[in-house]
Amino acid sequence: MDKLLIEGGVALAGEVSISGAKNAALPLLCAALLTREPLTLTNVPDLNDIATMLKLLVQMGVKVTQEKVGAGLTAQTSVTLDASGLDNPVAPYELVKTMRASVLVLGPLTARCGEARVSLPGGCAIGARPVDQHIKGLTAMGAETSVEQGYVHTRAPRLKGARLFTDMVTVTGTENLMMAACLADGETVIENAAREPEVVDLAKCLVAMGANISGAGTDVIRIRGVERLHGATHRIMPDRIETGTYLCAAAATGGAVRLTQTSGSYLDAVIDKLMDAGCEIVLERDAIRLKAPQRLKAVSIRTAPYPAFPTDMQAQFMAINTVAEGTAVIRETIFENRFMHAVELIRLGADIKIDGNTAFVTGVGRLEGATVMATDLRASASLVIAGLAARGETLVERIYHLDRGYEHIETKLAALGARVRRVK
Ligand code: UD1
Repeated sequence: MDKLLIEGGVALAGEVSISGAKNAALPLLCAALLTREPLTLTNVPDLNDIATMLKLLVQMGVKVTQEKVGAGLTAQTSVTLDASGLDNPVAPYELVKTMRASVLVLGPLTARCGEARVSLPGGCAIGARPVDQHIKGLTAMGAETSVEQGYVHTRAPRLKGARLFTDMVTVTGTENLMMAACLADGETVIENAAREPEVVDLAKCLVAMGANISGAGTDVIRIRGVERLHGATHRIMPDRIETGTYLCAAAATGGAVRLTQTSGSYLDAVIDKLMDAGCEIVLERDAIRLKAPQRLKAVSIRTAPYPAFPTDMQAQFMAINTVAEGTAVIRETIFENRFMHAVELIRLGADIKIDGNTAFVTGVGRLEGATVMATDLRASASLVIAGLAARGETLVERIYHLDRGYEHIETKLAALGARVRRVK
């Protein structure tokens, strides 16, 4: 298994480009299931999660062609998906277990094929993460649903528009139901909908495919079903979590960076906190510049659905607080077990106390390098940030988590001057 060897203590400096958003790309790839015509997505990130989703779609009968334009760190991939031969509406356990987002095929398959058989994703390191709301929504739209032998079965000759209310804000739940509703008979209203920018990006693409959707980006989304969708070309939005992660890496190392092909407009909560920590931030049209202070000030955060502070940035903020001046209080309200990085950060010398869903982080003068291991994607990112800020060598084990969500991480960090290399 690959590891990342980091020699810390270098202030990051320079420019690096941000990739297309993983969490926008995954539902967008599934949107291709809704039509017989080709869907082309550009700015697709080169990530293991994307490869897993493509594998899942191919075994269903979707034809996939990929094209790389340019070279090096600014190369961009476009993917064309042709689901005219879709003949196997099944998502097997072997693929779903490695990536929970595979459940995003459930809505589109039910809507297009009238049936689906999708393995239940099961729990993961950060929490139980059930998909009951996805199933509840499809049932309300007239699908017969059952759970047998670890698989969700749905059957519905044609889904019917309905008023849907989810018990909590769920991102992939909203996306699944929005996609299903595009081909339903009549109007669907999703209340308590997720307002995440990735939901808006998906809605934009669906509209380009002929869907009738309004309200995406608010907590009430209305979808008027149409007979069929057609092909389209859509550019995937920049990855706001990758952007936030590099901003944190620069902040923790006292660096100054410019991130290109991204935007601050989806990152208000994160940028606000970085400014509270003492960073200077300049927003350009398609770029963000950050200059860190001599020493960061501790900043408290509380995670909540968009537009509040994202849970996917919580671990990275815990990392920057370990070297800040003062004590930060970090509250995690989305996932019940998302502090797994704390014990690893403590191995680097961090001062962190956990009480239920709250962590108290008191900054120390300097972290010291050590061998650490992460259990999920964003936790791994927090260890990389801490390793960059630490004195000496940090070895981050099991970086396959990072490869699921950060495109060419070691090359991008090296471009910013970090001393980092992958060891096999
Ligand atoms: C998405 C993101 C993930 C992010 C999360 C929260 C993708 C591919 N992943 O995950 O990176 O951390 O949003 O911003 O976009 N829940 C239920 N029942 C359901 C659905 C959700 O109880 O049917 C609970 C979950 O366990 C969790 C909360 O609702 O506690 C929010 O989860 P949700 O928004 O659904 O997360 P994902 O869409 O899986």
